[in-house]
Amino acid sequence: MKNYETIILNNLEISPGYWRMRILAPGFAAAAAPGQFVMLRPEQALPTMLRRPFGIFRTGCLPPECAGLPPREYMEILYKIVGQGTKIMSELHAGDRVELLGPLGRGFAINDTDCAKLLVGGGIGLVPLFLLAEELIRRGHRVRLLMGGRTRDDILAVTEFERLGVETYVSTDDGSLGEEGFVTRVLERKLAKYPCAEVYACGPMPMLAAVEAICGECNVPLQVSLESHMACGVGACLGCVVKGTGHSDQRPNYLCTCKEGPVFSADQLDWGRVVNPGGGCLEGGCR
Ligand SMILES: Cc1cc2nc3c(=O)[nH]c(=O)nc-3n(C[C@H](O)[C@H](O)[C@H](O)COP(=O)(O)OP(=O)(O)OC[C@H]3O[C@@H](n4cnc5c(N)ncnc54)[C@H](O)[C@@H]3O)c2cc1C
Ligand code: FES
Repeated sequence: MKNYETIILNNLEISPGYWRMRILAPGFAAAAAPGQFVMLRPEQALPTMLRRPFGIFRTGCLPPECAGLPPREYMEILYKIVGQGTKIMSELHAGDRVELLGPLGRGFAINDTDCAKLLVGGGIGLVPLFLLAEELIRRGHRVRLLMGGRTRDDILAVTEFERLGVETYVSTDDGSLGEEGFVTRVLERKLAKYPCAEVYACGPMPMLAAVEAICGECNVPLQVSLESHMACGVGACLGCVVKGTGHSDQRPNYLCTCKEGPVFSADQLDWGRVVNPGGGCLEGGCR
């Protein structure tokens, strides 16, 4: 983990309300693992504003600006405007300064089995799946991405997955892009076709709970990336804890999302307590 005081290379709106920020980050790519995250704060944000957590979307390298200079390594985040911090971020430009702490947390465990690799993303939950897809493909696996959103505006960066060689299946709740309906319906069909599968998912909590129920039913291993509210990102404030399997008042089993996650094996979590009985959210966080 390193604290970068660095600059933005570009910051573009890629779909209504969704932005993509490229940040100069020498040495970051070699340290980052799929599923890890960063804590970010614009320099001009109020000194009282906490850093905000964002998944690492991708990393890369640009040619040097001038001969003799090193290539410019960068990392990218994709973000959705939901409040004050992300609004401020969307107003930043190339050259503006940001503080970036990372890479942080525990990412996906990659198993080199022959089982089908199914990646399930809901909206901005697609973010941590790109580095994962890249790594799985580098290891010779065939990867399928099931991507869901409310409308076509919530379907992001699918062509970039396709360029990697990922088979993609898009669904939207309103049918404005791809198949109409929830991404979990596509998952059910794929699991019927590939009973030997491993599922990796990130998205809103109700979607993750539905994915967990389906994978449990099919006895398929599942890893989920949680987006709990976070204040420090480094295990100091305990603001991000979720309840783990077997948790009780007598035998507490709290898991710290920023240190022990954000990626968990589904069987580590107490799903009944992570998702509320009303079916909405939210102890661990969702959008
Ligand atoms: C590990 C991790 C990875 C994340 N990756 C991404 C990502 O790649 N792209 C992205 O857009 N967002 C991501 N998030 C969520 C992102 O951190 C929040 O959207 C952001 O902090 C909101 O800041 P804000 O100041 O704009 O909103 P605030 O003013 O802080 O909040 C605005 C509204 O958003 C809700 N909110 C804030 N944080 C969260 C959260 N973590 N989960 C659910 N609701 C929240 C608040 O309850 C409130 O209703 C991630 C979160 C975590 C923990
Ligand atoms: S965010 Fe502070 S302990 Fe996890």
